[in-house]
Amino acid sequence: MAKMAASMVGSGEDAFRKIFKFYKRRNPPPDLSDVLDFSKAVPSDTVVLAELDPAAVSDVEAARVGLKPVRDWRAFGLQGYPGFIFISNPFLLGCQPFWVRQCLKTYPQKPNICNLDMHMSPSDTEDIWGKSIHALSCPPSGKREPQTLLEKLRWVTLGYHYNWDTKMYSANHYTPFPADLHLLSSQIAAACGFPGFKAEAGILNYYRPNSSLGIHVDESELDHSRPLLSFSFGQSAVFLLGGTVRQDPPTAMYMHSGDVMVMSGQSRLLYHAVPCIIPPPQEHTTLDMAGCSLASSLQDSTVMEQVSKQDWTVCSRYIQSSRVNMTVRQVLGPGQSLPETPACHERTDEDQTVGCHDRESGKRKRSSGCDSVDTIET
Ligand code: OGA
Ligand code: MN
Repeated sequence: MAKMAASMVGSGEDAFRKIFKFYKRRNPPPDLSDVLDFSKAVPSDTVVLAELDPAAVSDVEAARVGLKPVRDWRAFGLQGYPGFIFISNPFLLGCQPFWVRQCLKTYPQKPNICNLDMHMSPSDTEDIWGKSIHALSCPPSGKREPQTLLEKLRWVTLGYHYNWDTKMYSANHYTPFPADLHLLSSQIAAACGFPGFKAEAGILNYYRPNSSLGIHVDESELDHSRPLLSFSFGQSAVFLLGGTVRQDPPTAMYMHSGDVMVMSGQSRLLYHAVPCIIPPPQEHTTLDMAGCSLASSLQDSTVMEQVSKQDWTVCSRYIQSSRVNMTVRQVLGPGQSLPETPACHERTDEDQTVGCHDRESGKRKRSSGCDSVDTIET
């Protein structure tokens, strides 16, 4: 990648933008041969094995959230990106479906907030799953059918709800963070050397076939010494990890279903983006999803419930063309607190039509329930 990047961009240029556009192009599709694939990675000059702390999470604790024993995880670092850890699908076979179902059925529910709430009434967004499953359970008719609410979902926020317009969190814009996702996140963080991680804010991103996520840095959290975790499910994606300035050419890597990324240390504040999603390689396809039954020995101690056959029919149909990403953040360090947002500055219906454009790019951004993001853009 570094080779290609160097040959593509001159010094002083916005190298990130150029490479983002290269991978976002549809016609003709981009050459993906330089995209790093950690699922096939062997240690080299650029890819190094990451040291984990297997003692930080017991095998039983890991299994409760659907993870393999830490000693069996394949975790990598990248030369030149200190603090970046890529864990190649650490989930136990058959355990991803539970998390997919949480993303599609459970987490979009109130009191969590989603893009559809920006322009629809609470009663209309109350049961996104229930209002969508009929259409998604029937085989496609071949005719153009109206999109279901589930297919219109672009983001959900959890915990401290990110405000897309102010790019801030606030003390009084908070609902309880899901306990199961907190447990999953704290175990990943602990294994990566961050005991005591508190999952306080989550942004879930829903990518349809032509969606992309614009170039950005996640800096709204107050404590940047805590890692940012990212979980990928469904279709694969190209992820671009850049530097501290847009002139730094990014490294392109695949994120496949089940992959977990940890951005910590110096990599916590690097530019990154998702220019495109792509079908997973043949050898990955649905294998990990095949069994949505949990080993019975696990069922007592796990936080995961069995995914019913009906639920899995809908989830598997959705992820056949889509990707779901969960990012989990600790917002506050010891002793820190967030400001309150005065009620008069909270979003009103009128606010939603303004501020819908990204000043920098002129494009519509993730805020305001537009179809696109800071952006999932479609
Ligand atoms: C984010 C983000 C990456 C992804 O939500 O901040 O960078 O893979 N997501 O969706
Ligand atoms: Mn991000």
